[in-house]
Amino acid sequence: TRPLSVAIAGLGTVGGGVLMMLRDNADIIAARAGRPIAVTAVSARDRNKDRGVPTAGLRWYDDPVALAADPAVDVVVELIGGSEGVALALAEATFAAGKALVTANKALLAVHGAALAASAEERGVALAFEAAVAGGIPVIKALREGLAGNHVSAVAGILNGTCNYILTQMRERGREFAEVLADAQKLGYAEADPSFDIDGIDAAHKLAILAALAFGRPVAFDQVHVEGIRRISAVDIAFANELGYRIKLLGIARQTEAGIEARVHPCMVPQTVPIARVDGVFNAVVAEGDFVGRVMLQGRGAGAGPTASAIVADLIDIARNRFTPVWGASASELSTAPSVPMSSH
Ligand code: NDP
Ligand code: HSE
Repeated sequence: TRPLSVAIAGLGTVGGGVLMMLRDNADIIAARAGRPIAVTAVSARDRNKDRGVPTAGLRWYDDPVALAADPAVDVVVELIGGSEGVALALAEATFAAGKALVTANKALLAVHGAALAASAEERGVALAFEAAVAGGIPVIKALREGLAGNHVSAVAGILNGTCNYILTQMRERGREFAEVLADAQKLGYAEADPSFDIDGIDAAHKLAILAALAFGRPVAFDQVHVEGIRRISAVDIAFANELGYRIKLLGIARQTEAGIEARVHPCMVPQTVPIARVDGVFNAVVAEGDFVGRVMLQGRGAGAGPTASAIVADLIDIARNRFTPVWGASASELSTAPSVPMSSH
């Protein structure tokens, strides 16, 4: 069978991880995809950088948007980042070329998700984004497929690995905020601009995506109440500990009579609650469905391996042609519906 031909835009932490996983697990991936998945074209800024995996033999594009027009490419994987600019242009060019897009870019989806989903749906191609929320945890699949028959009333969780890593290291090892952040950057957890992590914006992007899926309507990202962890001190953490609490940066979205309420802020969580014991780079997502009750998923929320795992799962679905291009309800309805205002707290 003809391999699925993949182009990767961005060969940083995640792009490098995807190349490595497709190489190391090629046999099992081909078996599950029903055909080999082959990277044939790539783009990044620096042709000479060592990517940890050989890239010789792959078609190199300096302009990532040009990947979409490569006639030999079936699917584009966007791993550059940013809600506008080149990532947005590449997404639009990919759909215009009638090709599927896989992305880990939550900033792009939080701002343009409904419009991009409508565009994909119109052309009958996939928009896949398992990696955009909670790294390696298959939370998009869980919400979209596993809980499909439920009315979901709330979705919440630890949605940023960098912040959870910082808070955990400060508590367990008494380390300084700035030093642990530098560590998270070296480990490939942090965003290119780490203020997106520590100011809660990245968690808000993810919450907007989760809420749109859970509640089946678009969610105005810029109306999420957001507060990050910059002001949490070692003393706050020690006091919380003494009182039997953990400080966690949580994202919480729920349906209320007044509409959808969504917020991201540090919370005091009793140590007896399961989410309080989710530490380090781990994320956790809790959803409440009317028939299923409470479901909690946890796992690594950032880093090359976990994120690559989610990207490759999307590629396998696309290779099998079993991907449903759905953003919550019908994407075409969503893109024209007014977005739902959120009350902030
Ligand atoms: P990196 O900064 O490590 O990698 C970004 C890549 O994009 C680099 O290879 C860079 O090239 C390339 N790039 C940047 N600008 C351009 C451009 N104009 N043209 C061509 N290539 C460009 O980021 P990550 O891998 O960490 O993240 C990628 C995406 O995945 C982001 O959307 C991020 O939010 C998301 N994500 C990241 C996770 C993580 O744990 N790191 C987890 C989940 C999602 P060069 O290498 O030459 O500089
Ligand atoms: N910077 C993000 C985090 C990457 O730390 O959670 C995963 O989306």
